[in-house]
Amino acid sequence: MSLFDAGERALFIDRKGRRYLVTLKAGLQFHTHDGYVEHDTVIGSPEGARVFSSTGVPFVVVRPSLTDFVLKMPRGAQVIYPKDIAAIVMSADVFPGAVVLEAGTGSGALTLGLLRAVGEKGRVITYEARQDFAERARANIEAFLGKIPDALDMRHGDVTQPDLADAVDRIVLDLPEPWRVIPRALEMLNPGGIFCSYVPTVPQISQTTDALRAAGFIDVATTETLVRAWHVEGQSVRPDHRMVAHTGFITTARFLGVA
Ligand SMILES: C[S@@+](CC[C@H](N)C(=O)[O-])C[C@H]1O[C@@H](n2cnc3c(N)ncnc32)[C@H](O)[C@@H]1O
Repeated sequence: MSLFDAGERALFIDRKGRRYLVTLKAGLQFHTHDGYVEHDTVIGSPEGARVFSSTGVPFVVVRPSLTDFVLKMPRGAQVIYPKDIAAIVMSADVFPGAVVLEAGTGSGALTLGLLRAVGEKGRVITYEARQDFAERARANIEAFLGKIPDALDMRHGDVTQPDLADAVDRIVLDLPEPWRVIPRALEMLNPGGIFCSYVPTVPQISQTTDALRAAGFIDVATTETLVRAWHVEGQSVRPDHRMVAHTGFITTARFLGVA
């Protein structure tokens, strides 16, 4: 059992299920409307510890899941929702040991999901055009994983002109003009490799799809993922009144190699 350490992120959950992400530091206090909790009462405790605020209100403390972290982490660029990160990993068939080219890194949410999927033997090479966003992503990834893992190669630059000699198994893009990456994808993707893009609007899907077909990709397909949470309490079992209705569309295509 590993105990909470100073410097770690801890997720405080109150009786109403409200969640607060806190970096633990000796001597500090976590303040809420229900009083404050001394970080020192959590440091050295196991996950699942029940702590009480200065006014006697209970909180449960656990380590944040990747979903918790992505929804709460500081953002530069808009992050991809966890439901879409999950769908991208499967749609693009990101497997342990894969070499993945990603862009743009943005705030690093999708990068974290890709790193999980490729594992320690894989590699994620991620490009970000904006230095400030790249730094935000670096800080987020370090905050969640403790360090930049060996499997991650962060590059500042334009992914349409990558300084990359390596062949890649997957290309995963969350940027406005994914079709501009297709000419380089033809040079970089291994035969059988998968191109995957995530865009918010229909004209972007059309332009990407047309460009992929013209370039000889097969199995060009687009999906969107709607997740509807449910309210489950006693006899009141029904969908939540509100949901996130639209985020983005995932387009995937398979490369057969240059004939
Ligand atoms: C929506 S954000 C990506 C968010 C990211 N997927 C996440 O989950 O945190 C799009 C990013 O693409 C970057 N970008 C746009 N065009 C680019 C290009 N040609 N090369 C590299 N990065 C690019 C932008 O600067 C921006 O940070």
